[in-house]
Amino acid sequence: MDTEVKVETKTDRVRVKFEPSGKTVTMHAGATVLDAAVQGGIPLTTPCGGKGLCGKCRVRILGEAGPHTDLERARLSAADLANGFRLACQTAVTGSLTIEVPTASLEASVHKILEGMSEETLQLNDPVVRKKDVALPAPNREDESSYVERLEREIGPVHVDLPVLREIGDHLRDWDYQATAVLTDGELIEVERGNTETECFLLAFDVGTTTLVGALLDAARGVTLATVSRINPQTRFGDDVLSRIQHASERPRGLEELHGAVISEIDDMVRELCTAASVPAGRVYGAAFAGNATMEHLLMGVNPRALGQVPFLSVTRRGVSARASDLGLPLHPRARAYVLPVIGGFVGGDTVAGIVATHLDQNEGPTLLVDIGTNGEIVLKHEGRLLAASCAAGPAFEGARISQGMRAMAGAIEKVAINHTVECSVIGAAAPMG
Ligand code: FES
Repeated sequence: MDTEVKVETKTDRVRVKFEPSGKTVTMHAGATVLDAAVQGGIPLTTPCGGKGLCGKCRVRILGEAGPHTDLERARLSAADLANGFRLACQTAVTGSLTIEVPTASLEASVHKILEGMSEETLQLNDPVVRKKDVALPAPNREDESSYVERLEREIGPVHVDLPVLREIGDHLRDWDYQATAVLTDGELIEVERGNTETECFLLAFDVGTTTLVGALLDAARGVTLATVSRINPQTRFGDDVLSRIQHASERPRGLEELHGAVISEIDDMVRELCTAASVPAGRVYGAAFAGNATMEHLLMGVNPRALGQVPFLSVTRRGVSARASDLGLPLHPRARAYVLPVIGGFVGGDTVAGIVATHLDQNEGPTLLVDIGTNGEIVLKHEGRLLAASCAAGPAFEGARISQGMRAMAGAIEKVAINHTVECSVIGAAAPMG
């Protein structure tokens, strides 16, 4: 006789509501409040990468949560603990609850670096993408050259991508042998109907440790069409490059998480740029990326483990040219992605870009190039040599690992005047917080 077996399922899903945003997430009990914030898109500031060391992810819990940890007792005052304040990265969610997020615990959300739609003229000497309008003679008995050979008479020798080869014959026949050839790095990546020479777009990205800045360029006219900036979402895994190297090397899915976070933000920025300038993403044929060595590794999904130990080696110092689709970017299906070469140690492609953009190597006399970011670099040009060095500037400017430090946001003391009294000027005219 068959026996009916009843399986009882016990749900361990809990609801976490964030105030004042009102955002609610459902998640497994046992995860941390920081996990819930990440899931809900609440940009908590996490300079130490969730290790319980900086005390910056302070939130107030309304409801039951797991017991205080030693790190919380060390970082929070007795009054804070009594008032329900916890460190989001150290607090396990054991049941449904509401969480109050103080403004000081949020990332400075409005980053407006170079943003806008103003057209700025560029010096595009030799763009990586070239378009050529061609009109080929119709096939005849006297000329038995192939379609590709006929095209090469107009555009020079090319390597033809297989997907293009599959379509080129039908396209040229259907379009009466008139088309526009799209070339990147000597490769024919597309033939387009009619003359589209004026529709040739490129992207440039500065992949900073804290901020991402992207620009959409019109390669035909040599102008910038739009720029956009965002916080690098990897900051939730730690503000500095070493925290991110640790996360990528020590967590089972760490590298995947860091790579995925930056790619998904860049994907979003590409869409925003294209919409702002009314440019179809399929007409964007190349994107260049510059960042410090760690950021470039993470962008490409390459583990930066060796950058975290002496002698701080990159997996490669060469520039990398790959398909943008291999990075998961929504451009033309055969668009190229170029990641700039790094110099060595933490001095990366952003410094190379700075040297090229400022023509540092061509300047008369000794000259310094200084880039003060979360990761700072300095380059000295002297007597035909370029010497570079880098340092962590973030702790000084962004408050990481400093108990009284914070970013330049409401509550940060920006000026102190000592006459007969001590007077502080505070950003946002708020109560001083750091
Ligand atoms: Fe939680 Fe630093 S203490 S992120």
